[in-house]
Parts: sequence; C-alpha cells; structure tokens
Amino acid sequence: MGSILYLFILMRFLALLSSFHLIVTNSSSSVQQPLCHDNESSALLQFKQSFLIDEYASEDSYAYPKVATWKSHGEGSDCCSWDGVECDRETGHVIGLHLASSCLYGSINSSSTLFSLVHLRRLDLSDNDFNYSEIPHGVSQLSRLRILYLAGTSYSGELPASMGKLSSLSELDISSCNFTGLVPSSLGHLTQLSYLDLSYNFFSGPIPSFLANLTTLTYLSLTSNNFSAGTLAWLGEQTKLTILYLDQINLNEGPIPMELHMLSNLKNLTDLQLSYNRISLLSYTSTNATLPKFKLLGLASCNLTEFPDFLQNQQELEVLILSTNKIHGPIPKWMWNISKETLEALFLSNNFLSGFSQVPDVLPWSRMSILELSSNMLQGSLPVPPSSTVEYSVSRNRLAGEIPSLICNLTSLSLLDLSGNNLSGSIPQCFTKLSSSLSILNLRRNNLNGPIPQTCTNTSNLRMIDLSENQLQGQIPKSLASCMMLEELVLGNNLINDIFPFWLGSLPRLQVLILRFNRFHGAIGSPKTNFEFSKLRIIDLSYNGFTGNLPSEYLKNWDAMRIVDAENLTYIQVDEEFEVPQYSWEEPYPFSTTMTNKGMTREYELIPDILIAIDLSSNRFHGEIPESIGNPNGLRWLNLSNNALIGAIPTSLANLTLLEALDLSQNKLSREIPQQLVQLTFLAFFNVSHNHLTGPIPQGKQFATFSRASFDGNPGLCGSPLSRACGSSEQSPPTPSSSKQGSTSEFDWKFVLMGCGSGLVIGVSIGYCLTSWKHEWFVKTFGKQHTKWTRKERRGHRG
Ligand SMILES: *[C@@H]1O[C@H](CO)[C@@H](O)[C@H](O)[C@H]1NC(C)=O
Ligand SMILES: *[C@@H]1O[C@H](CO)[C@@H](O)[C@H](O)[C@H]1NC(C)=O
Ligand SMILES: *[C@@H]1O[C@H](CO)[C@@H](O)[C@H](O)[C@H]1NC(C)=O
Ligand SMILES: *[C@@H]1O[C@H](CO)[C@@H](O)[C@H](O)[C@H]1NC(C)=O
Ligand SMILES: *[C@@H]1O[C@H](CO)[C@@H](O)[C@H](O)[C@H]1NC(C)=O
Ligand SMILES: *[C@@H]1O[C@H](CO)[C@@H](O)[C@H](O)[C@H]1NC(C)=O
Ligand SMILES: *[C@@H]1O[C@H](CO)[C@@H](O)[C@H](O)[C@H]1NC(C)=O
Ligand SMILES: *[C@@H]1O[C@H](CO)[C@@H](O)[C@H](O)[C@H]1NC(C)=O
Ligand SMILES: *[C@@H]1O[C@H](CO)[C@@H](O)[C@H](O)[C@H]1NC(C)=O
Ligand SMILES: *[C@@H]1O[C@H](CO)[C@@H](O)[C@H](O)[C@H]1NC(C)=O
Ligand SMILES: *[C@@H]1O[C@H](CO)[C@@H](O)[C@H](O)[C@H]1NC(C)=O
Ligand SMILES: *[C@@H]1O[C@H](CO)[C@@H](O)[C@H](O)[C@H]1NC(C)=O
Repeated sequence: MGSILYLFILMRFLALLSSFHLIVTNSSSSVQQPLCHDNESSALLQFKQSFLIDEYASEDSYAYPKVATWKSHGEGSDCCSWDGVECDRETGHVIGLHLASSCLYGSINSSSTLFSLVHLRRLDLSDNDFNYSEIPHGVSQLSRLRILYLAGTSYSGELPASMGKLSSLSELDISSCNFTGLVPSSLGHLTQLSYLDLSYNFFSGPIPSFLANLTTLTYLSLTSNNFSAGTLAWLGEQTKLTILYLDQINLNEGPIPMELHMLSNLKNLTDLQLSYNRISLLSYTSTNATLPKFKLLGLASCNLTEFPDFLQNQQELEVLILSTNKIHGPIPKWMWNISKETLEALFLSNNFLSGFSQVPDVLPWSRMSILELSSNMLQGSLPVPPSSTVEYSVSRNRLAGEIPSLICNLTSLSLLDLSGNNLSGSIPQCFTKLSSSLSILNLRRNNLNGPIPQTCTNTSNLRMIDLSENQLQGQIPKSLASCMMLEELVLGNNLINDIFPFWLGSLPRLQVLILRFNRFHGAIGSPKTNFEFSKLRIIDLSYNGFTGNLPSEYLKNWDAMRIVDAENLTYIQVDEEFEVPQYSWEEPYPFSTTMTNKGMTREYELIPDILIAIDLSSNRFHGEIPESIGNPNGLRWLNLSNNALIGAIPTSLANLTLLEALDLSQNKLSREIPQQLVQLTFLAFFNVSHNHLTGPIPQGKQFATFSRASFDGNPGLCGSPLSRACGSSEQSPPTPSSSKQGSTSEFDWKFVLMGCGSGLVIGVSIGYCLTSWKHEWFVKTFGKQHTKWTRKERRGHRG
C-alpha cells in the first residue's frame, strides 16, 4: 500500500511583479477587432482534442474545463471569444492561453499544434495533469513567450535545454511538478527573468551557478529540491531580488557556510528563507548596519546557537522563524523590543531556551498571530501573548504555576497547545469564553485538577479537545454536547467520575473518544437512535469500572468502523487554515494519543485515519461477546481483555478481515477457538491467555506465528504451540512458557511514523515534523492572489 502524502503548496503570485497576472482573459471588447485566424482556431481545437477532460486532473476547487466551450462552428466560434484565449487587439493573433485548473489530462508532444501558435506570449497551464510526461523540445518554437506557468502539472523528467531559447521569458513557474536531473545551464540565457520558481521538484546536482546571470530577478524560489552541492557564490548580483526562498534544498555534501554580508547588496530583499538546509550561518554578528530590512526571515535549522545580534535592528519583521536550532539560555530582553509594530509570527520551537528575561505581563507584539515556543526548556509561569494571537503553542516545556485567567482575553485564539508542562491548579472557568474561537485545545500532560470547565456554551469551532493525563475531577460537562464540530475528545488518565457519556452520541463528527484510566462506571446501555456515534472510529474505555454487557447494540450502529475505501491514506488531523492580512498558511495538527496495542501501552504520535480500534479492556464487563462484534469489519485493533466475559469466542470475529491485534485474555471464555479465525491474515497479535478455552488450537497461516504465551493459562487447550498434543489422553506436563509477549520493537504498527512532512523520516521527533510541515505551508500572500495546489500523485484507479 503506498502512502500518499499531500503536499499542499500555496503558490504565491506577486501582483507587484507583473501586471500580467491580472489579465482578464476576455477579448470581446467594444473595440471591434479582427476575428481569430482560422489556422490558429483549428490549432487550438486540435490542442483541445489531444486531452481528456478529467475532474481529477486539477486540484483547485474552482477548476472547470475551460476548453469545453471551444467550438468550430456557429456563434462563439471566434477563438478570440473563447474562455482562456487572449488575442492581440490589432492583429487578432492568439497571444495568451490561460488554462490553469482546466481539468486537462494527457500529454503534449513536439508535434502538438500548440507550438504553431507562434505569437503566444503568455501560457498558463498550471494545475492540469500531464501524466508524468516530459516538456517537449517543441516548446522552444514559442520564442515570444514571456510568461510560462506549468506549476502543479505533474510534468516529470528533465527540463529540455531548448527552454533556454525562450529569451523573452520574464516569468517561469514550474513548481510542484516531478522534474529531476540538472537544471539546464541554458536557463542562464533567460536574462529577462524576473520571476523564477523551481520549488517542490527533485532537481539534483549543484545549485545552478548560472543564477548569477539572472540579474533582473525579483522572485527566486528553489525550495524543496535535491541539490547535492554547490555554493551560494552566485548570490549578490541579483540586486532587484525581493523574495528569495532557499529552504529545504536538501544539500547533502557537507554544510555550506553562509555569511549574511553576502546579502548586503540585496537592498530590496524582504523575504529570505534559508530554513532546513545544511547551511551554517556564520558571522552574523558583525553585519547589522548593511542588512536588508526583512519582513520574512526563515532561519530554522541553521545551526544557530544564540539569537543573532543583527535582529536587534530589524524593526519591520512580520515573520521570524528560528525553530530547530541550538539556541540556549533565556530569551533576551531585547527580543521584546524588535518589530513591535509588525511581527505577526514568531517560531522558536525546538531549541534549548530556558526562560524569559524580564518578560512583560502580556507580550508586546500588537499584531501577533502565531507564537510557537514548543519543545524548549522554558521555566517559570506561562507567558500570555497579545489578544490578537490565533495560535499559541508552548508544548513540551517546563512551565509551572497556574494558567493565568488573562489568557481568556485571547478571543481570536484558534489553537492553544499547553501540553507537556507542569501547569497546576484548575482550568480557569473563563475558558468558556474561548470556545467560540478555539478549534484545537490541548492541555495534555500537566498537573491540572478540579472540574472541566463548561465549553461550547454558544457557537463552537472546537474540533479537538485533549485534556488527558491530568488530575481532572467531576463529570464531563454536558455543554460538550453542543460542540458540534468536535472530532476528537481525549480525557484519558484523569479522575473523572461519571457514567458513560451516551449523550455525546449526537455529535455528528466525533471520530475519536478516549476515556481510558478514569473512574467511569455503570452499564453502557443501548443507543437511543440509530445514528449515535455514527462517525466513531476509535473508542478507548479501558481501565475504568464499566459493568454490564458489552455494548452490542452500539456495535451494530458504528458504521464508520466498517471497511472503507482507504485510498486517501492520511493521518487523523485537523487541517487548520489561517489567514491574516499579509499571510495565509495551512497547518495540519496531527492527532496523537496514548493507546494499548499488542499488549504495549505507548504514545502514538501520528495516527493514520485507517486505524479503527475498540478498547474496552480492564473493566468489569460480563456476559457473552455479542455476535455483532463482527459488524465493525474495518476494525484493526480489538481489546476486550481483563473483563469477566463468558461463553464462546463468536465466529463472527472472522468477519473482521483487517484485524491486526486481538486481545481476549483474562476473561472466562470457554469452548473452542473458532477455526475460522485462521482467515484473519493480518493478525499479528493474538492473545486468549487466561481463559477457560478447550480443544485444539487452530493451525496454519497467522496461527503458526503465535507463541505459547498467546494461549497460556487455558488448561483445556491443546496443539501447537503448546506442548500438549491433541487427541491423546496422556498429557505432557506444561512447560513453562515465556511470559512476555513478543518483543516490543519487532512489530509495530506499520503506518505509525511512516511519513513526516514531504519525506520519509523515521524516528525523528514529532516537533521537527510539525515545524517543517508548518513552514512548507507558510507562504506569504499578496492580497488574494494565491492558489493552492497539490503535487499530483499517480492515481491507480483512473478510469
Ligand atoms: C467579457 O466581457 C463582456 C463585456 O465586458 C462581458 O459581458 C462578458 O461577460 C465577459 N465574458 C467573460 C467570459 O468574462
Ligand atoms: C503527438 O500527440 C498526438 C495527439 O496527442 C498524437 O496523435 C501523435 O501521434 C503524437 N506524436 C508523436 C510523435 O508521438
Ligand atoms: C498516461 O501515461 C500512461 C503510462 O505512460 C499511459 O499508459 C496512458 O495512456 C497515459 N494517459 C494519457 C491520457 O495520456
Ligand atoms: C497561420 O497562417 C499565417 C499566415 O499564413 C502564418 O503566419 C501563421 O504562422 C499560421 N499560424 C498557425 C498557427 O499555423
Ligand atoms: C517523481 O520523482 C521522484 C524522484 O525522482 C520519483 O521517486 C517518483 O517515482 C516520481 N513520481 C512519478 C509518479 O513519476
Ligand atoms: C552568463 O553571462 C556571461 C556574460 O554575460 C556569459 O558569458 C555566460 O555564457 C552566461 N552564462 C550562462 C550559463 O548563461
Ligand atoms: C528597489 O525597490 C524600489 C521601490 O520598489 C525601486 O524603485 C528600486 O529600483 C529597487 N531597487 C532595485 C535595485 O531594484
Ligand atoms: C553545526 O555546527 C557544528 C559545530 O558547531 C558542526 O560540527 C556541524 O557540522 C554544523 N552543522 C551544519 C549542518 O552546518
Ligand atoms: C550592531 O548593532 C548593535 C546594536 O545596535 C551595536 O551595538 C553594534 O555596534 C552594531 N555593530 C556594528 C558592526 O555595526
Ligand atoms: C482583558 O479583557 C478585559 C475585557 O475585555 C479588559 O477589560 C482587560 O483590560 C483585558 N486585560 C488585558 C491585560 O488585556
Ligand atoms: C478521498 O479524496 C476524494 C477527493 O479529494 C474525496 O472526494 C473523498 O471523499 C475522499 N475519501 C475519503 C474516504 O476520505
Ligand atoms: C459475517 O459475515 C457473514 C458472511 O459474509 C455474514 O453472513 C454475517 O452476517 C456477518 N456477521 C456479522 C455480525 O456481520
């Protein structure tokens, strides 16, 4: 099964660079103009014919097949009136084709009639699907092109050197395709280029040195490629540059030293991204006077050990990214004074920051939207950001004391993550005020006590609430029933004393309910309607005092636990979209939780959305396992261990064809293990130990892999792997079996930590992933001129 990782890319279009971005592709004006030339009209129609129209070929939600209305006869046959076609008013020649997001699927070869449209100056084919074909050499015939946009088109292979003949080109955007190989040096002839975007491809080889020749560039992005070496020596001649993105270019041949004075000629530079490279920033202290006035400065993962001094003079910063460095010690006092009027986003996660020097009561930046301080060593009390803050994350630090009620003044807050600190006291009751703006509330793993405050009393955007691993008491507030957007509710490891919150069943989007390790009690009962918990996919009620029968009627209702088409493999996450005047960004906030699987309790930092799990273990459920356990047939983990269940193991368990872990141990189950369970070919963990099972153990397939420990403590069982043979009266004495089940590391769930950001990163802390994801998504926008595209993945099912 392949993983499909979605790379959402916010393409940014700079109105300031070119008025052509704003071209209205409508040529029918009051001025009479020549009709379209017949031969151009037929060239366009043939071009149209060479494609299939496929809604999946474009990602944009406003995509539609612009060519659909092109026709050869009758009214509207003048190609100059066609959607997406731009003609010269004087000559009637086709000079522009604006076919972005037009659902075109197919490829273009050198014989394409497109290349006979020699008057073309502007060609925009972004966000169509060219089926991993290569750009044909024929493109060089379009010698008058000045703009060429091919972003998000799944073009692949190498760029043809002949593109160097497009000497009039002023804007070239081939981002988010699948280009490989070297960037041809002939692109150095495109000396008119002002906008060059090669980002999100797989270009390799040295960073192209011909960039030194492109002295009219105002925008250059090389983000996310596989360059192997090279220098930044070419940098410095591009004195018109305003935007320079050099992040995530995966340099893998030793670190490149970079001195900031290389930028001193770039007086107009406002946005500089150097994050996530093997670039070591050297001598950044001695150059403060000459540096550009940055608006966006990205220095994540640049080997910084302290706050660069030159920041003291940066008073126009809007976004400052210093995460994932080695910055030690307290945040210096002067940091509270930089860019006070302008700073909107500050990323300091993943450093070794220990605290704050003279932190004001409320942090000073009046426009602050995002403040990221996660994964540091911050001590002291919780700082309160300004009331404009939309996202505030200080998870994984050592902050102590109470949560100040001043935080309830942050009425724009959408994401609040205070998890993994030492915060104590009770959650301020004024949190109620936040629930209309909050989308994600994470207070996990602190020392909070007292009751859970009322939430969602009014309108609510809350999608994820995690209050687990605290000492919260009392009952679940009934107001949660009004959190109509809620997808994940995690209250595990607290002291909540309540009955089963059946009333949460009416929440239409609830997917994950985790109540493990609390003081819940009583019977679960039956649903009142057929729609209760209809979206539920993970329920963990383990380690409580629930009694009565297993919830057989609920099992019939949980339709979201049935096998679904797992085509869109992704993680359970909340996709947050933020927009402030200058910037927009998308942030996936992945859901993570502690669960027990295969006998091991551990924290899962990413959870694929195909995980369907029921854990009712360690309660006091009695009675038989209902037949309806076979209904949620998408289940992958099922744990009913350590209850007082009796009767036979139902054969309907064999319906759970995706089951990977089945734990029925420590009950009072009797009779034989159903032979049908041998059909469960994904089963990697099976435990029926300590029951009253009898008869032969099913043999073959997965059952050949289970150890004795899976069957221990059932004196009536016989057959391999037990030494007691079946069908003979003399019983061999039970041999002591290994008491531990498997090893913890040999099997773990195959999807967990499978992908992280755009690459395969295993064993890396989630903090890193989160920040790198975030910065990928974080792109400045100018006005509304941005569109988001996905790099296309080949779809196996295309009809
Ligand atoms: C083109 O412009 C005319 C006149 O301004 C307008 O009526 C018409 O709707 C436009 N067509 C398109 C496709 O935008
Ligand atoms: C080029 O594409 C056209 C239409 O897609 C096709 O008919 C033609 O055979 C192709 N030519 C070559 C040389 O592949
Ligand atoms: C897409 O590419 C595949 C493999 O090269 C090919 O079989 C298929 O015909 C192509 N589809 C179109 C519409 O060009
Ligand atoms: C159309 O015909 C004119 C005049 O013969 C020629 O200059 C032009 O290149 C032709 N265009 C196309 C697309 O064939
Ligand atoms: C895209 O390029 C990458 C890197 O070369 C390659 O691994 C991948 O298979 C390509 N994808 C397709 C669909 O060609
Ligand atoms: C760069 O410009 C110089 C002089 O203008 C020229 O000689 C050289 O060929 C150019 N290099 C490339 C790769 O275009
Ligand atoms: C810098 O920007 C200003 C204002 O946009 C412009 O007038 C000036 O020419 C630019 N400088 C360079 C070197 O391009
Ligand atoms: C970071 O700095 C250390 C020494 O301080 C050096 O050994 C290491 O190579 C540097 N890493 C990068 C990526 O430059
Ligand atoms: C840089 O700025 C700081 C603070 O304004 C100042 O103390 C220092 O002398 C400056 N350094 C240089 C080289 O100008
Ligand atoms: C918090 O909000 C209240 C009511 O809007 C206001 O009176 C108070 O001044 C605010 N406190 C701070 C520190 O901003
Ligand atoms: C998969 O993605 C498609 C297209 O984005 C969407 O329509 C569909 O609902 C998704 N399927 C699932 C199971 O999420
Ligand atoms: C289990 O599968 C069998 C055959 O596919 C079906 O008849 C039966 O109803 C299923 N049982 C449950 C509980 O879903």
